[in-house]
Amino acid sequence: MPEKLPEALVDRFGRHVDYVRLSVTDRCDFRCVYCMPEDTRFVPRAEILALEELLALGRAFVALGVRRIRITGGEPLVRRDLPWLLERLARLPGLDELTLTTNGSRLAELAGALAAAGVGRLNVSLDSLRPERFAAITRVGKLERVLAGLEAARAAGFARIRINAVILKGRNEDEVLDLVDFARAQGFDIAFIEEMPLGAIRSHDRAESFYPSDRIRADIARRYPLIRSTAGTAGPARYDRMADSATRVGFISPHSHNFCEQCNRVRVTAQGRLLLCLGQEHSVDLRAILRDRPGDDGALQEAIVKALAIKPRGHDFQVGGEARIVRFMNHTGG
Ligand code: 5AD
Ligand code: SF4
Repeated sequence: MPEKLPEALVDRFGRHVDYVRLSVTDRCDFRCVYCMPEDTRFVPRAEILALEELLALGRAFVALGVRRIRITGGEPLVRRDLPWLLERLARLPGLDELTLTTNGSRLAELAGALAAAGVGRLNVSLDSLRPERFAAITRVGKLERVLAGLEAARAAGFARIRINAVILKGRNEDEVLDLVDFARAQGFDIAFIEEMPLGAIRSHDRAESFYPSDRIRADIARRYPLIRSTAGTAGPARYDRMADSATRVGFISPHSHNFCEQCNRVRVTAQGRLLLCLGQEHSVDLRAILRDRPGDDGALQEAIVKALAIKPRGHDFQVGGEARIVRFMNHTGG
């Protein structure tokens, strides 16, 4: 007799995992300086999970009580036939919300299909509103494409669109207010993210470019008094409001405000590695189970439940510390 599985995923520290980030590809059409090296190598296609395998994973997690799935990459919209997967995930009984994080480069073409497939909310990365600077940060990205994508997303009827901005000293710290004004004018939310030391990069010194959330918050508060939101949403972002706008301003601060105690999530890489923590290497190979025992949902669920036992207490990112995590964000599932 197989053991009865628990209804919910709870780890050793009593944290309840109800949120999964599923990476559908490690590929990306951008090469953001903080995310990957310029000459990055992508994983051979045979190693990447098939869409059917991704769906099986989604089914297993939802059966175990997961309420929210976020699709990530790399850049998820470079994955062919992604709407096929999205439609099926969105319809899983028990799932409250399917969301997606994108760099926006293909949103102009795909926003309608994403909305139709049942994606509820979008996060769109945007670090600069100046074309040359945007091109320098992403190494290849075109700002106008992303702006057109955001426009298409709004037209497609997405209720909440959040801008994600990674702020680096010496690169774009002078654009914090411009980004906030843009978000206010467009009716978007915005989150500022501290750079995390994932993978060794050569484009900049992460210690020198570190720009803490508290500085960003202070920069904004000089123009718009920020109202601290007391409702702690589950997850790492802390949100503030402004008196005269619906725009929420979030801060994701792995360095200055450790969020691990409230961690409610796990990640799956495009190769099917279940990562228990963004900043640690603890992982379980779910692809092996998917391929050795295709169709065996029970085995998959059991492996996920067992994996929770090795979810670490937290990351130990250090400003200026060496990148002890060798995987880059595009391999991690941004
Ligand atoms: N540190 C912080 N954020 C990063 N992102 C990519 N790499 C890093 C990093 N090293 C961001 C992207 C995107 C989000 C998914 O992750 O800009 O907004
Ligand atoms: Fe691509 Fe996102 Fe990484 Fe930029 S941060 S290179 S858009 S995966």
